[in-house]
Amino acid sequence: MSTARTSSEWIVEALALYLASHHTGTRVQRLYDALRGWIQHGELHTGSALPSSRHLAQSLGLGRNTVLAAMDRLVAEGFVVPRRGAGLYVADLPQPPIGMTEQAPATDMQHLSRRAEQLLSFCTTLNGGQRAFAPGVPALDRFPCERWQRLLRRHQHRACEAWMNYQTQGGLAVLKTALCDYLRLSRSVNCRPEQILITQGAQQGFELIARLLADPGDVAWIEEPGYGGAQSCFVSAGLNMLPVAVDEEGIAPDSLPPDAPAPRLIYVTPSHQYPSGVTMSMARRLALLACAERHGAWIIEDDYDSEFRYATPPVASLQGLAERVPVIYVGTFSKVLYPGLRLGYLVLPERLMDDFRRANARLHREGQYAVQSALAEFLVEGHFARHVARMRHCYRQRQAYLREALAPAVAHGLVLSQGQAGMHLVARLDSLEQERWLVERGHEQGIALSALSRFYLGEEKMPGLVLGYAGADEAEIARAGGWLCQAWLSRPDPAQA
Ligand SMILES: Cc1ncc(COP(=O)(O)O)c(C=O)c1O
Repeated sequence: MSTARTSSEWIVEALALYLASHHTGTRVQRLYDALRGWIQHGELHTGSALPSSRHLAQSLGLGRNTVLAAMDRLVAEGFVVPRRGAGLYVADLPQPPIGMTEQAPATDMQHLSRRAEQLLSFCTTLNGGQRAFAPGVPALDRFPCERWQRLLRRHQHRACEAWMNYQTQGGLAVLKTALCDYLRLSRSVNCRPEQILITQGAQQGFELIARLLADPGDVAWIEEPGYGGAQSCFVSAGLNMLPVAVDEEGIAPDSLPPDAPAPRLIYVTPSHQYPSGVTMSMARRLALLACAERHGAWIIEDDYDSEFRYATPPVASLQGLAERVPVIYVGTFSKVLYPGLRLGYLVLPERLMDDFRRANARLHREGQYAVQSALAEFLVEGHFARHVARMRHCYRQRQAYLREALAPAVAHGLVLSQGQAGMHLVARLDSLEQERWLVERGHEQGIALSALSRFYLGEEKMPGLVLGYAGADEAEIARAGGWLCQAWLSRPDPAQA
């Protein structure tokens, strides 16, 4: 009801709604309460005309005396004023009348839930669109936009009436079949198309898993350092997260004390640990599967950027290795195509498929079947594989540009990760103070420097920078890299920082 253009018809409608939803007190009282409240809160502005008592009585199905009694009281208290021959108007109330509204109500209703507050503590550093050095942003400048637009147009044009209705199939069948072929061949995922649920990205997959396979208070083991997107989903589902150290072989459950709480979910990025870049060794994979089996836990395998390996061939998925342990494979098109597409998928054990499909259709709804149809063709016709191959080459080059730009800093002690895969490098720093200093200076220059310490949940945090290189072209990398070198070389002495 709040607007400067309050018209008398809107007042009638709002009053009808109010009376239908408020049942305490007489009709006179309720009518008076509603109008007085709106005047006090500024929702009915000074000078607004009220509908005539006859019109109100007729429209609201009230006796005229009822309306007049409420109006008389509002006039008597000075909330409305009569104008001769023209009805009643909202009075000019320079001071809010006593006990009025500017203060917050004394109830908890205005506060966010505890879960929301925890969740928002993970949302402080959303990528604001910079490319150098935002992690996880692909080469948007190299995406085959024209071909994709043509495909999209054709599939939108072909969109059948059935696609316009509510969808409950868990995604378009042709896309699931095309994906299944790709996953079996390229990622050694053990699956049939019926096990695939199309989602709006990996994030939605994590959210579904957290809600459908765990209860509030259950424990999720997560890699330390680890991916904030998954952490946000777990926290908002009310799970307790237990950070598990990552070493050069990947997640190390043996590092936990023997009395550590048993997991319900174990979240891992085995192909390319995010953000450290480590690939989980075979010994660790087998140990993790055994550990999950002992605890009766689900493993969530987030395979977000495994297509981009430079020195060695892609590592087979953990899911394909698991025979007795349930592993849910989470995939996304955000890295291989572009994040705004919002398409990803889950590969689920068959027994879960139907429940996930129904819950997803209820919680999130499905849609974008024309886009899914275009994507299926993109895969089947080989455009996808060609794009991935081109991007692999492009990212290898962009990483080389970054190394070149940072060479003077490296010559003066900056340590970079190996970068055998993925879309970012990690630069190790000496102290958290140094990290903060560099991040702040970068921010002033419009350069997105992500603090490595942010990826840690525990007290012990390693200082460093996560430097995404895939999304920035050679010139941007040279500029931002050159700046970072200068900043590194002029950093304050750790003793004085
Ligand atoms: C580790 C990891 N997993 C998954 C994703 C992809 O998430 P989404 O598909 O929701 O865009 C990202 C994106 O940054 C990521 O870094």
